[in-house]
Amino acid sequence: MTTDTKVWINGSLTPWEKATVPLLSHGFSRASAIFDVFGTHVGPKGPVAFRMDEHVKRLMKSVELLEMKLAYSAEEIFEAVKTTVQANNLGRGLIKILAYWREEAIIQLVLESDLDLAIFAIPDSEALGLDRARPISACLSKWRKIHPATVPVGAKACSNYLNGYLARKDATNRGFDLGIMLGTDGFLAEGSIESVFIVKDGILKTPPLGRVLSSITRLSILQAAPAIEIPTLETPITADEIFTADEIFTAHTGIKVSPVARFENRDLQAPGPVTKQIMQLMEDIIHFKDDRFTDWFQPCY
Ligand SMILES: Cc1ncc(COP(=O)(O)O)c(C=O)c1O
Repeated sequence: MTTDTKVWINGSLTPWEKATVPLLSHGFSRASAIFDVFGTHVGPKGPVAFRMDEHVKRLMKSVELLEMKLAYSAEEIFEAVKTTVQANNLGRGLIKILAYWREEAIIQLVLESDLDLAIFAIPDSEALGLDRARPISACLSKWRKIHPATVPVGAKACSNYLNGYLARKDATNRGFDLGIMLGTDGFLAEGSIESVFIVKDGILKTPPLGRVLSSITRLSILQAAPAIEIPTLETPITADEIFTADEIFTAHTGIKVSPVARFENRDLQAPGPVTKQIMQLMEDIIHFKDDRFTDWFQPCY
């Protein structure tokens, strides 16, 4: 980020270098922060946000699941995002919303105060590589996805990402791009920061909600696939089904669809025929070439 980057914090635009918290803040020292991330695109009339309504709904859900309190309504957050996009002249990029307790916590575990809210505008870059889908390799992680009875996996909580960190670390140690985790019940869950889809006999399958984050890209693919006559199924998937899938791809808001070219020691067509159609569909949607999904974008101008 550059020195002229402005971060929206609790209603004010703050210079990037001042967007900090104390080391003993609850958010940092107790790892209690929550967040959400979505894309901005350059639309015909100016910058637009991809499914900001769904992402902010998920942020609100994270607050509710963790029994925290946020003083801002969804509408106030939409306005704050617009302000942040405009202040930073953001085109293609990401918005990251972080809700956290800046308050210091020496021994307190439960705070009653409202969460602080920060909104970051992050422009696309070579490192971020937004939309630059490429075939990837994936392994079956030695780590299992955290069980929903331990912490709510539907909450996008920073602390949940230690699980994802370990899965990614294990994968890269073994020479793969990413790790796919099973749940403790042995069924497919998701990757570190991505949902997982498999294709078998022309049917696009992904695990049901409850065991995985309610990914907005997952939702979008499930909603859009019928428009190109690809049947979908939200169903428990065994490890064996991953190993024998015709196609595998991962999905998240930054790159939408990444085809898996190698899963463990098995090579797969990447993208396979169904994945290719889904990639094209998502590509057309984010480039405003498919007017069936224009309501997925909210203006930020
Ligand atoms: C654990 C996990 N699953 C799935 C996803 C994909 O979610 P989305 O499509 O909303 O980016 C993410 C992305 O943040 C994630 O962290």
